[in-house]
Order: sequence, then structure tokens, then C-alpha cells
Amino acid sequence: MDFLQEINRRRTFAIISHPDAGKTTLTEKLLLFGGAIHVAGAVKSNKIKKTATSDFMEIEKQRGISVATSVMGFEYDGYKVNILDTPGHQDFAEDTFRTLTAVDSVIIVIDAAKGVETQTRKLMQVCRMRKTPVIVFINKMDRPANDPFDLLDEIEAELQIGVRPLSWPIGSGEIFRGVYNIFEKNLYLYEPSKQTVQEGVDVSLESEELDARIGDNAATTLREELETVEGVYPEFDVNLYRSGDVAPVFFGSALNNFGVRELLHCFLQIAPKPQPSHAEERDVNPEENKFTGFVFKIHANMDPNHRNRIAFVKVCSGKFERNKPYRHVRLGKDLKFSSPTAFMADKKNIIDEAYPGDIVGLPDTGNFKIGDSVSEGENIHFRGLPSFSPELFRYIDNADPMKAKQLAKGIDQLMDEGVAQLFIHQFNGRKIIGTVGALQFEVIEYRLLHEYGAKCRYEGLSLYKACWIESDDAEQLAEFKKRKQQYLAKDKDGRDVFLAESNFMLQMAQQDFKNIRFHFSSEF
Ligand code: G4P
Repeated sequence: MDFLQEINRRRTFAIISHPDAGKTTLTEKLLLFGGAIHVAGAVKSNKIKKTATSDFMEIEKQRGISVATSVMGFEYDGYKVNILDTPGHQDFAEDTFRTLTAVDSVIIVIDAAKGVETQTRKLMQVCRMRKTPVIVFINKMDRPANDPFDLLDEIEAELQIGVRPLSWPIGSGEIFRGVYNIFEKNLYLYEPSKQTVQEGVDVSLESEELDARIGDNAATTLREELETVEGVYPEFDVNLYRSGDVAPVFFGSALNNFGVRELLHCFLQIAPKPQPSHAEERDVNPEENKFTGFVFKIHANMDPNHRNRIAFVKVCSGKFERNKPYRHVRLGKDLKFSSPTAFMADKKNIIDEAYPGDIVGLPDTGNFKIGDSVSEGENIHFRGLPSFSPELFRYIDNADPMKAKQLAKGIDQLMDEGVAQLFIHQFNGRKIIGTVGALQFEVIEYRLLHEYGAKCRYEGLSLYKACWIESDDAEQLAEFKKRKQQYLAKDKDGRDVFLAESNFMLQMAQQDFKNIRFHFSSEF
């Protein structure tokens, strides 16, 4: 197979959902189709149970599991499918945001009885920002569900995206009979089953066979509803899907493996192949001959005795080859990788080459940071991996004077991994850890102790938000810094950060200093 064919057959995407909507279950069913796993239950949910916020073992388990399931690749029907896993717990939302920078499309799972939930809303914001194409899978139709039209309206309103149903449910819960596949124009009858897959039957909407198969009432309702669907929603336009303006919608039940194959078939037909990536210098096309890529995730290994990590690199262009020297752009050094890994479901294999759309795991002893670019010599810097304004803050102090060095190193490395953000308070010189979720503080404390032998102590710090500031008006910036000197910090790259104690304080600052720009993400 030639280089272009390899690129064209790749589909790299993430499944996102609010916890419990069925992301893990759907992932598993897709892997079953790909033959990547053979029994249900092989993919472990990587979510931390909501009750276990202080269960360290749970955190460790989560970390271990998510290494194995970070990327799940499989072959299906000539395609190479790469599913990128995202953490279920909302405190790890930043990880999810970063993972979304490495995908070409997204499948959103929505619980049919709950509709759009908070986490879905937040993740969709990122997709909208990046114009990522999304397909919606409305799950759990085997349970009493909300009215499908109401669900579609809710998705349109809450996720701010046009919708176009490509399948339509026949009842739900106990009277769930199946779906009519609008995309393929055939009927899928539902039989509760967790492992086997039903065949679609070609039944035209007008035929009496439809009545015979699902009953007169259901058939009449289906005809009426589909008429409404055709009247209300413009015909499906794949270009509007690819531009991120319209989301095709499927209904089904992941647990019963119902509607999943149709989803997969349609996904493979319409989902985009690897797309260009944006670098500061220029846009990079996957078809370019020379290899480029960027690190979107770093994972520390489970073994506390070996502080080895894996840097996950998304291949943006060219062919990645084992043992070939590549430029680590930030360090300005050439590095060779003798054991790059790829991920096939729950297995990790050493690979010789990888293509655009693929994710390569590079064993790392501390060279990489989130956002680093790798190339065949070009000084290129990929964009789109911002840190977001943290909202939870604590001072971090050394609790063991003998281990100051270990603590500093540990904090540094954990920040490189993107676990949290570090700021230095300009007024008192103390270190501040800022996060988007409370769980990170426990993860940091635990990992500092177990991986670096360092003990930390936290002290609460009540702040509303930290935001990056900049201005072309040097005078006003100097005035601002003078007036707000108690609320200034530097981030790890030495940039100015304003620590707002309250929303009111932030608004006042924005009002009083009109020539200062306040940024809520680190990329501006
Ligand atoms: P998540 O990764 O999005 O958090 O969700 P996950 O797949 O773990 O699913 C959450 C729960 O919903 C699981 O039940 C799962 O079995 C169930 N579920 C998923 N899809 C369907 C479906 O189509 N129909 C029905 N009725 N249930 C579904 P659980 O009891 O929390 O976990 P488990 O003990 O079954 O693993």
C-alpha cells in the first residue's frame, strides 16, 4: 500500500460523553467489530467512581488502565481506525481537551433519558472551537427515553450545532422495536442481545411488510415521524458535517450492540481522513513527505522504581520510522527512538513505522513536555494545546526539608505532563498550583510521595481565576502591575498572570484597564 493510501484509510477520533452515558460500552462494541477484542468486558471503564475522590488506589488504577486504553487501534473493512480514549472523570477535563486536538472527528454519546448533560456541553465547546466534525449516538434506547424530536431540539439548542437524524427509533424502553436506518434505507429490528448483531432487513416504508414486522400502530407512527423528519431537517450534507455545522444523529443501545454497526459503517464513509494541522509557522498537510508530530499527552508509568514515561505523539505528516533521528524542536536536539509503540486495543506493540493519523508512544525519560513538536529538522511549532485558566488554587510547600530537590523536580515533571499548572506568586515568591479539578491535588501529593519520595503540604488559597495578561500599552501595564502587585504571578514560562480574587475584581480590572488583554487560555 502506498503512502497516500495509508493516509486515506485512517480514521482517528475520540468518543466523548458525560460519565455513564455509555462511552466505555460503545468503545468496547466497536473494538469487538474490529476483532481487536473478543469478549465484552475486556475494556475497563477508566472512570473513577464519583464516590472515590480520596481513594488513591482508585487513582492509581485509573492511571494504569488508561495507559492501556489511551489509544485503541483496529482494522476494519480496509480502514485503520484509531480511537483515542478520554478520561471519564470531569476533573481530568484538561486531558480530554488536549486529546481532542489530536483527533479528526468525534462521536458524542448521549443518554436518551438524560439528554445533554454538563460534561457533554463543555466538551462540545472545544469541538465547536476547533470545528471538529461530530456524530451523535443517542444511547440506551432499550430504556424509557425522551421523545426523539425533543432530544434533537435539545442537542441543537444546547450544543449549538445543526442536527440531521440518519436513523429513527421505533419506540423505546419496553416497546423499543428497533430503528429505521434513514442512511441505508432499511429496518433493524431489536432483539435484546449483548454479543450478536442483527442484520438489517430491506423494508420499504410503504410496504405492508413493515406493518407485519412492527405492528400497525408502530408502523403508522414511524411513517408519520419520518415524514416530519424529512420535512423539518434538510437532506444530509456530508460537507456540512465535515465543516462541523451539522451533526448526523443515530439511535441505538450500545449495551445490546444495537445500532453500533450502522454507526460504524456510516462513520467510516463520512468521517474525515487525517486533516492538516496548524503550526505557528504554517499549515502542515498529512501528505507531506517529511515527518512532523506533536506531543498531546504524557503518561507516567505505573512502576514507581523506574520513572519512565510515555509521550504520545500524533503523527501530523510524513512517515514516522523507528531508529531514525528526529528533531526535538524545543530542545534543538536530535533524538532516536528505538522502541516506539503503537496501541492495538489492550496491547502495546513496538512498531517500525507510523502514518499521519496514527499515535506513536515514545518512551521518555523526561525530555518531553505537552505541546512539544518533533520533526525531520524543521523548526516547527504546533499550536492548539492551550492550558485553561485554572479555578482551584493551593500554595504548595515542602514538608520535608531533606527532600527539597526531589520536590522541585517532581513538581516540574508533573507540570510538564500537564497534571496542573504552576505559578510563582510575585508578591511573596511562593509556588501556587492551579487546577481545574480538586482530584489533581490528591494525585500530585500522592505521586510526589510515591514517585519522587517528596512530601508536600498545601495551603488553601481562595481565588476566582488566574488569567494571562498582556498589553501594547507599556505605561498602563506598569500601572496595573503597581496597583495589583499583590495579585500577580508568573507562569512556568515567565509570563504575567493576574490572580483575580473574585469575578467582580476581574470585571473591575477589565473596566479600569482597557488596554490590557485578559486571556483565559494560555494560547493567545
Ligand atoms: P461511560 O463510559 O460513559 O461512563 O459509561 P459506561 O459505558 O460505563 O456505561 C454506564 C452504564 O450504562 C453501565 O452500567 C452500562 O452497562 C450502561 N449502559 C451502557 N449502554 C447501555 C444501553 O444501551 N442500555 C442500557 N440499559 N444500559 C447501558 P453500570 O451498571 O454502571 O456498569 P456495569 O456494572 O454494567 O459495567
